Amino acid sequence: MRNSKIAGIGHYVPDNVVTNKDLEKLMDTSDEWIRERTGIVERRYFTEGVDTTANMGAEASRRALQMANLEAKDVDMIIFATLSPDYVFPGSGVIMQRELGLKEIPALDVRNQCSGFIYALSVGDQFIKTGMYNNVLVVGAEIHSTGLEFSDRGRGVSVIFGDGAGAVVLSPSESNDKGILSTHLHADGEFAEELAVTAPNSNKKERLTHEMLDDGSVYPYMNGNLVFKHAVTRFPEVINEALEKNGYQPSDVDLLVPHQANLRITSYIQQKMGLPAEKVMSNIHKYGNTTAASVPIALSEAYQEGRIKEGDLVCLAAFGSGFTWASALIRW
Ligand code: UT7
Repeated sequence: MRNSKIAGIGHYVPDNVVTNKDLEKLMDTSDEWIRERTGIVERRYFTEGVDTTANMGAEASRRALQMANLEAKDVDMIIFATLSPDYVFPGSGVIMQRELGLKEIPALDVRNQCSGFIYALSVGDQFIKTGMYNNVLVVGAEIHSTGLEFSDRGRGVSVIFGDGAGAVVLSPSESNDKGILSTHLHADGEFAEELAVTAPNSNKKERLTHEMLDDGSVYPYMNGNLVFKHAVTRFPEVINEALEKNGYQPSDVDLLVPHQANLRITSYIQQKMGLPAEKVMSNIHKYGNTTAASVPIALSEAYQEGRIKEGDLVCLAAFGSGFTWASALIRW
């Protein structure tokens, strides 16, 4: 079986910058609270008529394809991770497929929230390993800003999320010492409702009611403290799992790219793993938490900043709603 490698990577974020100060005008919050508790300074929000979940994914994909020296017609499969698809159905994968002018190749949507990109990467990796496909586009894209409650009631969640997209092209690696060395996926549905949007709800006779709009169940709910506690346990666990599986120590890692959930979570992981700050990617101050888009945006920026060189050992890790958590170890 052959390894897959990241042949190209790109990201796209909307132009519209929304600062903590902007949010102060909409709810009882403060720049100081948001910075201290999350590390976020600003985030991007979509512009209606310009940005969609699918077209942001398409733009990130074009950039990734360009880096890989491939054209859209070379793509064998699309895997699209998002919790904020353009429509309830069909998925954003097919809409992005249309946007890129691709015909008949499969387009799969992945619904694993903050871990969605690594889950999607793992699926693409398997298709390349088996020899079924050669070039797989793996995308994470989100528009959160249209689904947040900009009021005092929603402040615990609304200040965190932002919009954006990232994508990679997976292609066969030249050797089995390079590329994606392993992926590790986990889930625990016991905590499904601890970070969730529970309406519209197909188990109710009326899927969407005025009551749901009024009681806020159409907006994300997060048991922040509980999610935080699980995150700081699961992140180191799943990173260590990837390292142990491949016979490496934390000190062998050249760059850790964690899902950008909270700067305090990232700092905790860094300390727990005994890594210097420069080996841990963080860009939450610019984009907030973009769930499925966060890992590929961070990876793409790290690459552009020259923080990833040929031969580097790069670890991706994520934790989020589900709960789901995952890691991927890559020899670049
Ligand atoms: O990406 C998926 C995974 N997600 C995560 O990993 C997120 C994990 N959780 C977190 O990052 C943190 O729990 C939050 C950033 C969401 C919240 O931080 P916290 O330190 O856990 O705050 P808290 O929820 O315990 O709230 C502390 C106080 C409360 O006031 P009282 O009860 O102490 O008077 C909140 O009402 O902060 C208040 N608060 C706010 N104040 C100003 C909550 N949200 C805000 C806000 N602005 N936006």
